[in-house]
Amino acid sequence: MNTQLASAKHDSDLTTPSAPSLQSAQPPLLCEDGNALIRLDRIHKVYQMGDVEVHALRGVSLEIHRGEFVAIMGPSGSGKSTMMNIIGCLDHPTKGHYFLEGSDVSRVDKAGLADIRNKSIGFVFQSFNLVPRTSALENIELPLIYAGIPAGGRMRRARAALGEVGLADREHSMPNQLSGGQQQRVALARALVNNPSLILADEPTGSLDTRTSVEVMEIFQRLNRNRNLTVIVVTHEPDIAHYANRIIQFRDGRIRRDFSVENRKDAGEVLMELPRETEDEEEWGGPAGSKEAGTKE
Ligand SMILES: Nc1ncnc2c1ncn2[C@@H]1O[C@H](COP(=O)(O)OP(=O)(O)OP(=O)(O)O)[C@@H](O)[C@H]1O
Ligand SMILES: [Mg+2]
Repeated sequence: MNTQLASAKHDSDLTTPSAPSLQSAQPPLLCEDGNALIRLDRIHKVYQMGDVEVHALRGVSLEIHRGEFVAIMGPSGSGKSTMMNIIGCLDHPTKGHYFLEGSDVSRVDKAGLADIRNKSIGFVFQSFNLVPRTSALENIELPLIYAGIPAGGRMRRARAALGEVGLADREHSMPNQLSGGQQQRVALARALVNNPSLILADEPTGSLDTRTSVEVMEIFQRLNRNRNLTVIVVTHEPDIAHYANRIIQFRDGRIRRDFSVENRKDAGEVLMELPRETEDEEEWGGPAGSKEAGTKE
């Protein structure tokens, strides 16, 4: 695996939100166009279900550059999560090549993929996937434990990440003491704590109400802008997709449309227009948190 991925890690990046972008901190990239962070070349994915073959992806080719904010849309079953799993090094394509920072990772073995994931990719899911009965801070520390970071550094970085999502005062809260939006923000901090170059979010606002969804998108937009973090978000909601600068639409395992977003929405501005819930509601996880599936025990 290309060592550029590992060299993208900068301890100080988390503690300084306006730190120089990763792009400027990294050596030039090796892809064909010299710029692509991700390049998929005629990717196919076929799942074998007994005697039946399910063609989830049917020849997907695309490039995503560092610093892009991409929304993936399309009907249920069109292959969105399958593609995210491949981009996130959770799964291999059946056919085709996947270049991440110029290196072909299509054939990297499981251990190698795990290494790339730990160092370079942060994941956010619809259902938050926090560990129950484990504090917000400890949840965020988990990826650092896997990465072998000593305890002192772990705590400092986890606190910085929690501060970055606006939850510095909730470090001892358990997931079931947090609203859905707060749980998703903890999950976001956990995705960020390893200072990845890429964030993959599969329907991150699917369980959240309107205001909380915009709050999550505001964090994504801020990280994308301030750190040049590349963000890929799967969503069924056109409103959410318009916080991205590019929308890719899937259908039947193929890309149907790929276009730039005109009049991109600014989540910070939208938030200012939206009514804020009362503190009481936030305390008991009322309207802002009542829709979540989450990790309630
Ligand atoms: N592990 C699997 N084994 C077998 N078939 C699978 C597997 N994962 C996905 N599929 C099939 O692959 C196709 C694409 O699924 P995928 O999960 O990528 O769709 P999606 O676009 O994410 O849908 P949704 O919007 O419902 O999340 C579907 O037909 C699905 O049933
Ligand atoms: Mg899906």
